[in-house]
Amino acid sequence: SSSLKPSTTVSDTYSEAIELADIDWDNLGFGLQPTDYMYFMKCDQGGTFTKGELKRFGNIELNPSAGVLNYGQGLFEGLKAYRKEDGNILLFRPEENALRMKMGAERMCMPSPSVEQFVEAVKDTVLANKRWIPPQGKGSLYIRPLLMGSGAVLGLAPAPEYTFLIYVSPVGNYFKEGLAPINLIVESELHRATPGGTGGVKTIGNYAAVLKAQSAAKAKGYSDVLYLDCVHKRYLEEVSSCNIFVVKGNVISTPSIKGTILPGITRKSIIDVARSQGFEVEERLVSVDELVEADEVFCTGTAVVVSPVGSVTYHGKKVSYGDGIGAVSQQLYTVLTRLQMGLAEDNMNWTVEL
Ligand code: COI
Repeated sequence: SSSLKPSTTVSDTYSEAIELADIDWDNLGFGLQPTDYMYFMKCDQGGTFTKGELKRFGNIELNPSAGVLNYGQGLFEGLKAYRKEDGNILLFRPEENALRMKMGAERMCMPSPSVEQFVEAVKDTVLANKRWIPPQGKGSLYIRPLLMGSGAVLGLAPAPEYTFLIYVSPVGNYFKEGLAPINLIVESELHRATPGGTGGVKTIGNYAAVLKAQSAAKAKGYSDVLYLDCVHKRYLEEVSSCNIFVVKGNVISTPSIKGTILPGITRKSIIDVARSQGFEVEERLVSVDELVEADEVFCTGTAVVVSPVGSVTYHGKKVSYGDGIGAVSQQLYTVLTRLQMGLAEDNMNWTVEL
């Protein structure tokens, strides 16, 4: 693993003046809090990444003709580090993010760090920014790895050089509702993904594609948008930033992974957790009509964790799911987060202790 050697140049956006004492740990939302270091690693035409380094967090320089800026050749990941009661640090399933980035890189014609390089880089970055991990129960350190075509291209082609970088930020709840149920609206005109497209990998363009529908929904007071498949305009896909689950009795259903849905690591973990808790879990086509019959609906994601859905509006008709947090959402949230924070035994071997 690389040693901690910060560059001597301190960029404009890095402020030594930001002290932990200035952070309101009780009210962390999901916004960027600049931290101390970012990880930086490059790959040229040879296809191998050179040894990475930790630099002061700050702006990066890119050629205006960089592949990522011109043709969207970029991927990102998201994972979290938690502080344990004993002060040690836990990462949650970092190899899964490494594997997903490799899969996405293949789709986007990019080289990617090996699983080992990725995980080592994450560990180094978290340790270098250790002081920014929130106290237990107050949140987590969100880790954002990026992979981008940083080399110059003019004609459409894969970039000749790639940059992998990681930055981190302490975060609390993703939605402004906190842990309270969110209100979704089903979007039936705009789509986030198409069969054969890139919806199944974590490319940056997938997220730009949802901004228009998301902004319109927020302007109407909704928390976010639930997308439908673009062929039948009938089956649930996902929410802008998370996967979706529908609960009916003892059965929990979620749209299956078929190239248009992001294969969430929290999604996958919740499926296993739910089964271990005695639920039946089905990965299948889930029709929008099933929202009417559902007992509970919830979303999963690294950023959103498990977010209960209070209502879904479709073609002007609002379906509500009770007052507070649904019992199933609450149970799954509790089991998962206790495991992530090291409060429950990790029988699954999902956490990596630093
Ligand atoms: C995550 O949950 O980590 C994501 O990547 C979603 C992002 C829109 C915050």
